[in-house]
Amino acid sequence: MLQRGAYCLPVFVTLFSAVFFRIRLIARELNPCLQVTPGITYICMELNLRGIPPDIPNSTQNLDLSFNPLEVLNSNYFSSVPALRLLDLIRCHITTIEDNAFAGLHNLSVLLLTGNPLQFLGPRAFQVLPSLHRLVLAETSLSSLDHLPIGHLMTLEELNLSNNFIDSLKLPKYFSQFTHLKHLILKSNKISSIFREDLDVLSALNITLVLCKNDIKYIQPRSFKGIYLQELSLRASFENSNIMHVGLLNMTGLRVNSLVLGGYRNLRKEKLSKKELLDGLCHTDIQKITLICIRDAFTTDSFSDCVNDISTVRFVDSYIRIENFPGNTSIRHLEFKTTGFHRVPLEKLASLKELRVLHITDSDELREFDVRRNWTLQKLEILNLSNNNLNTGLHWHYLKIHFPHLKVLNLSFNPLVRVSGELTGPITLKKMDLQHSKLIGPGTIPAFMCLRNLIYLDISYTSISINTECSFCGLDNLEVLKMAGNSFKDNQVVNTFTNVTKLKILDISNCQLQHVSLNSFDFLHDLRELNISNNKLLDFHPELYIHLGALVILDVHSNQLITLTKKHLENLPSGLKKLDLSQNLFDCSCDRLDFLQWVKEHEDLLLHTEMMKCHSPSYLKDTQLMHFDISYCQVSTTTVSVLVSISVIVVLSLILVYKFYFHLYYMMVLLSGGHSSTDHNKIYDAFVIYSSQDQVWVKQELEETLESGVPRFCLCLHYRDFRPGVPVVTNIIKEGFHSSRKVIAVVSTHFMESRWCNFELEVAQSWQLLDSKASLIFVVLDGVDKVVLRSKLGLFRYLRRNTYLVWKDREVNRHVFLRQLKAALLDGKTWTEDELRSMLKK
Ligand SMILES: *[C@@H]1O[C@H](CO)[C@@H](O)[C@H](O)[C@H]1NC(C)=O
Ligand SMILES: *[C@@H]1O[C@H](CO)[C@@H](O)[C@H](O)[C@H]1NC(C)=O
Ligand SMILES: *[C@@H]1O[C@H](CO)[C@@H](O)[C@H](O)[C@H]1NC(C)=O
Ligand SMILES: *[C@@H]1O[C@H](CO)[C@@H](O)[C@H](O)[C@H]1NC(C)=O
Ligand SMILES: *[C@@H]1O[C@H](CO)[C@@H](O)[C@H](O)[C@H]1NC(C)=O
Ligand SMILES: *[C@@H]1O[C@H](CO)[C@@H](O)[C@H](O)[C@H]1NC(C)=O
Ligand SMILES: *[C@@H]1O[C@H](CO)[C@@H](O)[C@H](O)[C@H]1NC(C)=O
Ligand SMILES: *[C@@H]1O[C@H](CO)[C@@H](O)[C@H](O)[C@H]1NC(C)=O
Ligand SMILES: *[C@@H]1O[C@H](CO)[C@@H](O)[C@H](O)[C@H]1NC(C)=O
Repeated sequence: MLQRGAYCLPVFVTLFSAVFFRIRLIARELNPCLQVTPGITYICMELNLRGIPPDIPNSTQNLDLSFNPLEVLNSNYFSSVPALRLLDLIRCHITTIEDNAFAGLHNLSVLLLTGNPLQFLGPRAFQVLPSLHRLVLAETSLSSLDHLPIGHLMTLEELNLSNNFIDSLKLPKYFSQFTHLKHLILKSNKISSIFREDLDVLSALNITLVLCKNDIKYIQPRSFKGIYLQELSLRASFENSNIMHVGLLNMTGLRVNSLVLGGYRNLRKEKLSKKELLDGLCHTDIQKITLICIRDAFTTDSFSDCVNDISTVRFVDSYIRIENFPGNTSIRHLEFKTTGFHRVPLEKLASLKELRVLHITDSDELREFDVRRNWTLQKLEILNLSNNNLNTGLHWHYLKIHFPHLKVLNLSFNPLVRVSGELTGPITLKKMDLQHSKLIGPGTIPAFMCLRNLIYLDISYTSISINTECSFCGLDNLEVLKMAGNSFKDNQVVNTFTNVTKLKILDISNCQLQHVSLNSFDFLHDLRELNISNNKLLDFHPELYIHLGALVILDVHSNQLITLTKKHLENLPSGLKKLDLSQNLFDCSCDRLDFLQWVKEHEDLLLHTEMMKCHSPSYLKDTQLMHFDISYCQVSTTTVSVLVSISVIVVLSLILVYKFYFHLYYMMVLLSGGHSSTDHNKIYDAFVIYSSQDQVWVKQELEETLESGVPRFCLCLHYRDFRPGVPVVTNIIKEGFHSSRKVIAVVSTHFMESRWCNFELEVAQSWQLLDSKASLIFVVLDGVDKVVLRSKLGLFRYLRRNTYLVWKDREVNRHVFLRQLKAALLDGKTWTEDELRSMLKK
């Protein structure tokens, strides 16, 4: 069994690797380099590449090849991508860079070689890179600068050599020619001693030298003499405060603009407890000192009297105690960032007579800011207490006493600030930032009455609701008002801005606004920028911006506008340069064509056009207005109108055909037989049209009397004379009308109610029109309701104009009726010889 297992394992591993390799290969084929900007930027990270992929175009400027096993860079390795500006070769297992590996990369500006275990570098490895600004050789196992073949890279601005094994700060001669060099980073190396001649080559330069995380044990006295550094960073560079103290003493003569001392948050803590720690700085020339991650008992009286010239002091991530500063310091700028204060230690800073700028920020512990004591910071101009945990009141009167020259006050990002409405205050105040701090006072009282000279006010997202018209009274010189993310009474702006007539920038975005009353902006003649985005406006009336002659930027995005009318567009301020209308609920139906066309013509004015999308009609939802096909509208209006007219006509015709089906039909039949009809075909004297309800009457009074009397008439009666198997209508027309000289209509109540009778009557009337000899005889039966008769308009009118016979069931009347009827039937009758003979016989 064991043997079998031992045999299986290698096979399995081989198989597995093969499959895995295959998968990687497929993955590579399916998943080529990520194209970020076509032709310019490609990311080919971790694709198991062994060279430049052939599909990378020769115009590529930024190429990320990190995490591929490139291993050896031969000469002309990058000849297929000559336009490179940034080349990322981080962690590519590169051990060897041969001569001219980067040949031809004339524009290469940034070369990242971090994390490659470089073993062999050809003496011409970096030939020729005439534009290289930034070379990162971090984590490349370098142990010395001596053999690094970079002497010709005169354009170098930053050389990052962090995380290597370099043990000497002896910089090669060629450094003196790096006249553009700004940053030399030697963080996390093995430098333990610094000697006098090491830095000689830097005397002509002005660089930032980062020596953090080395373990410096020895600095030869005066080795920094005559050197000027822009910045010297010595975080975690000494094992303890004793060595640091002496080290700083040995740096006598150093001139540096900014010195950074301290540790790292997660690293061994510098115990900088020595009181005279900074004594060493007495003989150096420093403008600015930053102390980072200094813990424990560091107090501000560690600054010895000699640090007179330091003008900027920054404490970052340090828990320090404020004792009195040395009596005669010239500190102008003091910064405490994340320093764990519980209250703002202003009275202890009062000794800093020159203090102009004070930042105390980013401290969760800082809750109190009590100004009601007896001290003054006479020259303080900028006070920044942002991003703390302050729950405090702002008393203008005290501010004025304590900071008589205060120009900028930043209390943003604190939990709560109460503002009182006092009449005297710091009239020097020009700029105030209270954003994202919950404010109590503004909006309900005129809280800024005493800030006559304030130019800039940021009260964005401060949970205020503008309830009083005088919210901004007194701000006579205010030019910038940012108040996004607040609310207005009833969600509308009414007269809030009448008294801030100098406004240039107004931001009332995100205020749930539904309405802006028409003259709200009438007095803002200087307004250049108006941001009213992210509200709920259905309309933005032209009246609102008619007075804003100076407007340059108007942002109305994310509202609920449906369109802009002609009036809107015509009245836009003439100087408008940027207009953001994106993310509204635009209607793209063709009756908004004016607006849609205008949008296309003003692409340069409009911002974020890709976010200007149709909201309705639903089939165009999310179509970009810019992509909206205007010709579609022009075609479709005509098409639609033609289609509509056609269908209306068709429908109307169908209705007519349906309604007048019979009429059409008989017209056809009538016309088809009309001309051929002559008197010879007239076999009947009269066609009788009547309601079947009156059949008995017809039989007795017409059929029997007329057909058996003298002269004898021949009637056409449907029950007797119509031919079977022929459509009724055809019978009516062919047998009835065409074959009869006259028509007798028996008008009764039933007659008027019968559809057939009415139809026959209509046919009779048309027949009468077509055939001039044709005539109609009306017989109105006894008992016909006159009212009903009147309602049958056609019939009634006919009867009024023509004579008709009335039949009454009385002997006398019957006799008269019969005589009249016979007379009417005799009119125009021609007799056949048979008939004449039979008549004479009688
Ligand atoms: C880049 O490649 C194209 C063909 O793909 C060629 O015409 C052009 O000359 C090349 N440009 C350079 C600078 O090599
Ligand atoms: C290098 O940049 C210059 C100017 O930006 C450009 O004219 C030139 O074509 C670029 N060289 C290469 C090889 O792309
Ligand atoms: C130097 O390079 C390392 C590794 O790439 C990087 O982490 C560090 O931020 C760089 N230092 C500077 C100052 O750019
Ligand atoms: C050093 O360089 C900085 C910019 O990096 C510049 O502001 C400063 O004036 C320079 N100082 C000297 C003495 O050249
Ligand atoms: C400072 O210089 C003195 C005198 O040469 C030397 O004894 C001492 O070790 C040096 N200390 C440090 C930390 O460089
Ligand atoms: C304070 O320093 C100034 C020069 O910066 C000096 O003239 C003055 O005498 C010093 N005063 C004290 C009390 O040290
Ligand atoms: C106030 O402080 C905040 C947070 O630190 C900052 O973002 C803002 O720019 C500052 N305001 C001014 C006017 O400097
Ligand atoms: C506000 O402006 C009006 C008219 O410009 C003026 O009459 C009124 O006094 C002003 N109110 C305040 C408090 O400044
Ligand atoms: C208007 O305010 C919104 C946030 O409320 C912001 O995203 C946008 O950039 C501002 N517009 C302009 C033109 O500054």
